[in-house]
Amino acid sequence: MAQVTSGIRSILSNPFVYDSFQNLLGAERHRRLICSDYIRPGDGGMIVDVGCGTAMILQHLPNDVRYFGFDLSPAYIDAAKARYGMRGTFMCRDITQLSDEELPQCDTALAIGLLHHLDDADATALIAHLYKRLAPGGRLITVDPAYWEPQSMVARFLISRDRGQNVRDGEAYKALVPEIYSHTQLHRRDDLLHIPYSHAVLECTK
Ligand SMILES: C[S@@+](CC[C@H](N)C(=O)[O-])C[C@H]1O[C@@H](n2cnc3c(N)ncnc32)[C@H](O)[C@@H]1O
Repeated sequence: MAQVTSGIRSILSNPFVYDSFQNLLGAERHRRLICSDYIRPGDGGMIVDVGCGTAMILQHLPNDVRYFGFDLSPAYIDAAKARYGMRGTFMCRDITQLSDEELPQCDTALAIGLLHHLDDADATALIAHLYKRLAPGGRLITVDPAYWEPQSMVARFLISRDRGQNVRDGEAYKALVPEIYSHTQLHRRDDLLHIPYSHAVLECTK
């Protein structure tokens, strides 16, 4: 996995520390804006969340969505089950290794904070795999830290300290999306966290 989990960043493997640290930086605002501006959950529907972490996104999703989350970390999946057990299905899996049968069909696929942990080959293969499981007209939403020009030195420094080892610039994230998607929109966001930071959001429509 292209993720630094040693040294000071090892403490983020603890779900309580991870959630507390994320919330300090503004993760609640980040999730609220991603839900209102991009996910726009309707009535019901099936959401597959790859790299779901502790599944905190469920705080912002309606109760009637069906939710399926995958994450590599057993501790994060246990925390998601403890907090949201009744609201979804949570599986500890490496999403680059899933078969077609294991990846549920869905209306919306989420990869929030995931692509910058994957190399180009794994990221493109995953995006293509999700396309096969999306309903016609369904959407994949991705959100990742990103380098842009121009960008403040503080934001660039903070982004460079991320655990993910494949942080890209906005256009490089878009280039990961195979042309099978009918429409791919790239958005720059500098306002999702309480600190100087930039994200790339991809909205990929089947
Ligand atoms: C930055 S966190 C984001 C978590 C969550 N989506 C959120 O928004 O809070 C990235 C997550 O991706 C997971 N991850 C990284 N590589 C993965 C892989 N190959 N398969 C499944 N999960 C992975 C990590 O364990 C981590 O929980």
